[in-house]
Amino acid sequence: MSAKIPVGVLGATGAVGQKFIKLLEDHPWFEVTEVAASERTSGKLYGEAVSWKQVTPVPEGVRDLEVRPCTPDLKCRIVFSGLDAAVAGQIEEDFARAGYFVLSNSKNHRLDEDVPLVIPEVNPEHMGLIPVQRRNRKSTGCMVTNANCTTMFLAMALGPIHKAFTIEKVFMVSMQAVSGAGYPGVPSLDILGNVIPFISGEEEKVEIETRKILGTFNGKTIDLAGFPVSAQCNRVAVEDGHTESVSIKLARKTTVEDLADFLRNYSGVPQKLQLPSAPEQPFIVMEAKDRPQPRFDVNRSRGMATLVGRIRPCSILDFKFTLMGHNTVRGAAGASILNAELLKAQGFLE
Ligand SMILES: NC(=O)c1ccc[n+]([C@@H]2O[C@H](COP(=O)([O-])OP(=O)(O)OC[C@H]3O[C@@H](n4cnc5c(N)ncnc54)[C@H](OP(=O)(O)O)[C@@H]3O)[C@@H](O)[C@H]2O)c1
Repeated sequence: MSAKIPVGVLGATGAVGQKFIKLLEDHPWFEVTEVAASERTSGKLYGEAVSWKQVTPVPEGVRDLEVRPCTPDLKCRIVFSGLDAAVAGQIEEDFARAGYFVLSNSKNHRLDEDVPLVIPEVNPEHMGLIPVQRRNRKSTGCMVTNANCTTMFLAMALGPIHKAFTIEKVFMVSMQAVSGAGYPGVPSLDILGNVIPFISGEEEKVEIETRKILGTFNGKTIDLAGFPVSAQCNRVAVEDGHTESVSIKLARKTTVEDLADFLRNYSGVPQKLQLPSAPEQPFIVMEAKDRPQPRFDVNRSRGMATLVGRIRPCSILDFKFTLMGHNTVRGAAGASILNAELLKAQGFLE
C-alpha cells in the first residue's frame, strides 16, 4: 500500500484541474485517489471524461479513476480545487465543514476575513487564520486559498521588497496569457493578432489581494497593507505566462544593483524547509535587456519561480521592472500544492 497521503481534485477536468493531475504525478508526499467534477462528466472514467490538453499523457494512476460528483464523501482528507467560480464558493465550504483541507484556486473565499490567502515565500504566518476559521465556522476542516494568477507574481516579488524597503505605491500593467481564461477560453478570432484591454474583475483582484497577502496577521484577521496598488490588465496572444510591467515607490532608499541582489539572494520558508515543489530560488533575476520572455523562460524552475528583469530607475516612482511567471503552474495549481506542502511542514496534517 502507498505511504503517500491520498488527495482529491475538484474540477479535475478543467484547465487548472488538469495541471493539478499533471503536477501531482510522482509527487513524493501526495497521491491523487479521487477526481471530481460536474454532472456533465461524473460517472465516467477520467481518461474518457477529460479533454486532456497537457503535453504528457494522462497519468496511468488517474486515467481509470471514476469522476465523482463534488460532494464531501471522497476518501481523502485533502482536496485541491480548480472549480469554476460559479460553483466553487458553496462546494468548497461544504468540504471544509465536513472536515476536508480545501486548497482553492477560486476567487470566492480569498477575501473572507478568516481564510488564509498564502504565498509560502511571503506570508506563511497567515496560516495562523486556520484555527480562527475553524472556531468561526465550527468546522474541523478549513479552506486555504492562493492568489489570482496575476496577483501571484506581483505579490511574490513585492512581499520581500516591502519587508526590506517599505513600499509606498505600486503601479502594474499586465500582459496575460490566454490559458488564464481556462479552456476553450477566449475565441481565437478575438485574440489572434490582438490585445484585449479588459479582463473582467482582474484589476480589482490584483489591487486588493496584493494588500491582503502583504498584510499583517493580528491574531484574528489580516490588516491590509496600507499602500495603494493600481493595476491595468490586458489579454494577449500568448499561450502560457503572464508578464507584468511594475513601478514602485519605496520609503527606504536603495539602488538598482542592491534591489537586484536582494531578489537574487532571497530565500523564503519553502526553500528553508525544502518543500518538494519549491523553486530552488524564488526569483530568477535575468541580466539580458530583453528578458524574461514567456516563450523562452516560462518553464524555468518547473514553472514555480518568478522571473525578474529590466530593473531600472523610474522617473515617476522609484524603480520599474518586468515580472513573468507560469500562470497555470505557479499562478494556480502549483501554488495550491506548495500551500499543501507548507501545511504538512507546519504540522496541520498530523
Ligand atoms: N486558468 C488559470 O490560469 C487560472 C489561474 C488561477 C485561478 N484560476 C481559477 O481556477 C478555477 C478553474 O479555472 P479553469 O481555467 O480550470 O476553468 P475550466 O477549465 O472552465 O474548469 C472548470 C472545472 O469546474 C468544473 N465544474 C463546472 N461546473 C461545475 C459544477 N456545477 N459542479 C462541479 N464541477 C463543476 C468543470 O467540470 P466539467 O468538466 O465536468 O464541466 C471543470 O472541471 C476558476 O475559479 C478560475 O478563476 C484559473
